[in-house]
Amino acid sequence: MSDNKKRLAVFCSGTGSNFRALFHAIIERELPAEIVLCLSNRSQCGAVDFAREYGIETMLLSEKQFKTQGDFARAMLRALREHRIDLILLAGYLRKIPDEVIAAYPDKIVNIHPSLLPQFGGHGMYGMRVHEAVIASGENRSGATVHFVNEEYDKGRIIMQNHVPVLAGDTPETLAERVLRCEHRLYSDALEKLLTGES
Ligand code: GRF
Repeated sequence: MSDNKKRLAVFCSGTGSNFRALFHAIIERELPAEIVLCLSNRSQCGAVDFAREYGIETMLLSEKQFKTQGDFARAMLRALREHRIDLILLAGYLRKIPDEVIAAYPDKIVNIHPSLLPQFGGHGMYGMRVHEAVIASGENRSGATVHFVNEEYDKGRIIMQNHVPVLAGDTPETLAERVLRCEHRLYSDALEKLLTGES
């Protein structure tokens, strides 16, 4: 039975709340998938703690461990092949995926971004910077986007989006909390769509 399940790798660098949401969605929605690897560039973070608690294999992989970017890319590819990964989910992963890996997994690497792309995306737009920019722009809507990863930051084909209001008096922190709650639902819905063609 488990043969029909897609083998997922989740890449994380931080708290891991999207990782947790995806993990629980797979169980609650009985999705045909299993998270078999949590890859992180940090040896200690909330995402890695969660993976250990739930018996998901963790792997530390950082550019710092390698002499060249090519060596780093090859190590990442080896890890993905050894674990027979079908789909890679970036969940708060703050490193660029090497081009060799993107080429080897076309339309198999997915990211979530805390804005309504193409607005407020691109190099350097991550974390609180995104929410600061949204508030400074005076937009009355923000949201989150799940998209495929290509060679350019936040430019891959959009899979799903959802929006939240920007309220009078919002700070970057209050907006970030609202967007993050939206992300958890959206990422789970997008995964369901990718796995089943529905959502
Ligand atoms: C999220 O806002 C996600 O969109 C961004 O980084 C944050 C990660 O949060 N890429 P978490 O680690 O999933 O809690």
